[in-house]
Amino acid sequence: PTRSPATPEDAMSSTTVITNIASLVTNDPSLGDGSPLGLIRDAAVVVDGDRIAWTGASDKAPAADNRVDAGGRAVIPGFVDSHSHLVFAGDRTEEFNARMSGRGYTAGGIRTTVAATRAADDAALERNLTHYLAEALRQGTTTFETKSGYGLTVEDEARALRIAAAHTDEVTYLGAHIVPPDHADDPAGYVALVTGEMLDACAPYARWVDVFCEKGAFDGDQARAILTAGKAKGLHPRVHANQLSYGPGVQLAVELDAASADHCTHLTDADVDALANSRTVATLLPGAEFSTRAEWPDARRILDAGVTVALSTDCNPGSSFTSSVPFCIALAVRDMRMTPDEALWSATAGGAAALRRDDVGRLTPGAFADLALLDAPSHVHLAYRPGVPLVSRVWRRGVPVR
Ligand code: NIG
Ligand code: FE
Repeated sequence: PTRSPATPEDAMSSTTVITNIASLVTNDPSLGDGSPLGLIRDAAVVVDGDRIAWTGASDKAPAADNRVDAGGRAVIPGFVDSHSHLVFAGDRTEEFNARMSGRGYTAGGIRTTVAATRAADDAALERNLTHYLAEALRQGTTTFETKSGYGLTVEDEARALRIAAAHTDEVTYLGAHIVPPDHADDPAGYVALVTGEMLDACAPYARWVDVFCEKGAFDGDQARAILTAGKAKGLHPRVHANQLSYGPGVQLAVELDAASADHCTHLTDADVDALANSRTVATLLPGAEFSTRAEWPDARRILDAGVTVALSTDCNPGSSFTSSVPFCIALAVRDMRMTPDEALWSATAGGAAALRRDDVGRLTPGAFADLALLDAPSHVHLAYRPGVPLVSRVWRRGVPVR
């Protein structure tokens, strides 16, 4: 298949071979050890322009214009962080501090960030976004989704999405994050705005529509109306579901063929069954449980039922202020009882599935050359050595960025 080059440099399409890789995660089960990770030992990768051209045994690697010696370390696909909230201003240090002194988390803190975000100018929002994106990239994230949801007026939501769309294709309209204080007495009016004028202003910038389906945010009927309206405008649904309590979010996500039901902390057996019999991915966000001192999602139960699981940061200033996928992997392994292989798969191929993408999250010929070189002999070290900055080099679209 032909492809158009992403940058003028790519048009020259120089090739690079990375050799001497102790363990290469391809996420192609037909390769290597035949596991879902498609792990190849003593491997090499050839990058051609912005794409992967070849993977295989290091001693069979074809010649290329440039050569990189991985030094007997591990190479993995760049992380696909399919859930973040990075268009915001201000921070919520005091709220976190109070929580760690015993106060509980409620969605009410979102109002603090809404006020700060509305008051910020475009340049400040842009600076903040690029700061956290650079932080994530250094830690191996090469594809990320991000959302609106801290503007909650027609203008503020549309500008959040416009700013986000300059940095990623994976942009989500979350006008239905909470009912803002200015509509406290008229939630129905706010839903009408979210499904009407605000949707019209936001849809051109977004690929996805999301709703926080939760007590204190939007109920099942409101969420269905919002997601259905988004679908009619060409946006595809994803849902903040069952984070703080049991509720209709997961079933609604499955009903509407949402790409992902995110959080999935409080699930009934029927919720797990519904996910298992659907294409909807369960996106687990352990940074949120960590930062709110909440109980962990039961990843073992969800995986054992055959549900596809993604693992993402939920990076936002309230409930999960981490941009680090490696940190989330360590939490998932230690506290949610995922195996290191499952956690790595979920943070790469799982994130891609949650975005319905097959050109990222795997290192197979034709996929984007998004990869991370770890300062470790295998991906298991991401959980084995928590908190250690093991991501030592990163290529995005074939370009070394770290
Ligand atoms: O995914 N759950 C809703 N939204 C965010 C929290 C946002 C905030 O507290 O500012 C979340 O956890
Ligand atoms: Fe979220």
